[in-house]
Amino acid sequence: MVIIRREEGGDLDESAQVTEEAFRSMKQSSHTEQFITNALRRNGLLSVSLVAVDSESNKIIGHVAVSPVTVEGQETKGLFGLGPLSVLPSHQRCGTGSQLVNAALEALRSMSAIGCVVLGNPKFYNRFGFQHTPSLVLGIPGIPQEYFMFIHLDSSAVKPEGTVHYSSAFDATQ
Ligand SMILES: CC(C)(COP(=O)(O)OP(=O)(O)OC[C@H]1O[C@@H](n2cnc3c(N)ncnc32)[C@H](O)[C@@H]1OP(=O)(O)O)[C@@H](O)C(=O)NCCC(=O)NCCS
Repeated sequence: MVIIRREEGGDLDESAQVTEEAFRSMKQSSHTEQFITNALRRNGLLSVSLVAVDSESNKIIGHVAVSPVTVEGQETKGLFGLGPLSVLPSHQRCGTGSQLVNAALEALRSMSAIGCVVLGNPKFYNRFGFQHTPSLVLGIPGIPQEYFMFIHLDSSAVKPEGTVHYSSAFDATQ
């Protein structure tokens, strides 16, 4: 069985290793995702950080980070970005990634978040309700916009519009 729980102090090295391994063979990866999570944590921007633990081995097999994003020219309190999301290659395709995404969205709803963006494959993220939203544009050139998606998490009429920027922690290289 896989347990999803909040990250604890003793998890950091193991969860960074899970992230490194998850992205190791991914072509589109910068291979800096574990540094991004560490930089978010250092800068106090890790709004949600959950680990997936294999209850038999007690090992961490997955991790998800969520951090605030900004949208040019408007109030962005309550808008977050999901990622990096990582599951150890040996444990992929067993539902753990989905459990992590669902738990992260639940955590955001309990924080009264307005919504969450994600950059990734629509085939994976559409199932949770993430949709490409033309009014929200990713502020990174060269990435097909359909890979940038948004989910509305509250019932308010607030509809974020504009260019979305992740924090500078996403530039971390070590
Ligand atoms: C993406 C990732 C977190 C999914 O974790 P997982 O535990 O394998 O996911 P689940 O088992 O919950 O879901 C598997 C489903 O997602 C699909 N899926 C998984 N990764 C996918 C991807 N990169 N692109 C498209 N579909 C994907 C599978 O085909 C499967 O679909 P099905 O349910 O229709 O069979 C994992 O593959 C991973 O860590 N990959 C490397 C890092 C990465 O790409 N992170 C996300 C970047 S935004």
